[in-house]
Amino acid sequence: MKKVLKVVVGVSGASGAPYAKRLLAVLAEKRALGEVEVGLVLSRTAEQVWAHEIGGSPRELGVPVWEGRDYAAPFASGSAGWESMVVIPASMSSIARIAHGISDDLLTRAADVMLKERRKLVLVARETPLSEIHLENMLKVTRAGAMVLPASPSFYGRPRTIDEAIDTVIARVLDHVGLANALQKRWGDEPAPEITGGDVWAE
Ligand SMILES: Cc1cc2nc3c(=O)[nH]c(=O)nc-3n(C[C@H](O)[C@H](O)[C@H](O)COP(=O)(O)O)c2cc1C
Repeated sequence: MKKVLKVVVGVSGASGAPYAKRLLAVLAEKRALGEVEVGLVLSRTAEQVWAHEIGGSPRELGVPVWEGRDYAAPFASGSAGWESMVVIPASMSSIARIAHGISDDLLTRAADVMLKERRKLVLVARETPLSEIHLENMLKVTRAGAMVLPASPSFYGRPRTIDEAIDTVIARVLDHVGLANALQKRWGDEPAPEITGGDVWAE
């Protein structure tokens, strides 16, 4: 029987709602195919930033949503067996609380569960520039077993649109939770075409 991967997606109040929306859309497709079970947890500021950046609400995506301190959510306990969590975007505040084991909302509690159970926790960190405090907290969560995967698009696949640039990040997130995808050109897939113009976006 095919294994259904249980993935928690945490959305915090960092800039980067388009990343979260894209990941949730891909996971919703995989959910419809019976490949994944998805739970969405919103931080206290997630919806405010989402509405500002892309309009609407993450509640409109048809994925089950939890928030606040609703510790009745299945992934608030290790016994429910959720294998992976992605926090996308991950604010410096959420990362700080995760780094210090301060589970004062469902998002940080679910992340704490992933770490204590030695499961997969991917933090799509977003802030610039970074202070010493941010860097120390990212080192701390890395040492505790999380993966810090910055919201840094790559350009070697020559993305031409914002959506394509976003997919370079989402592809890496899916790779790290173990979900097959063809969202971006892989290094070595095909030779890059010659660039002829002087402008960075020249055809
Ligand atoms: C429009 C907007 C953009 C923000 N962008 C960031 C960001 O990129 N990184 C970050 O760490 N915080 C950012 N913040 C601040 C966080 O929302 C704030 O620190 C909040 O307390 C984070 O809490 P949460 O992680 O529980 O959502 C932003 C806030 C707003 C309103």
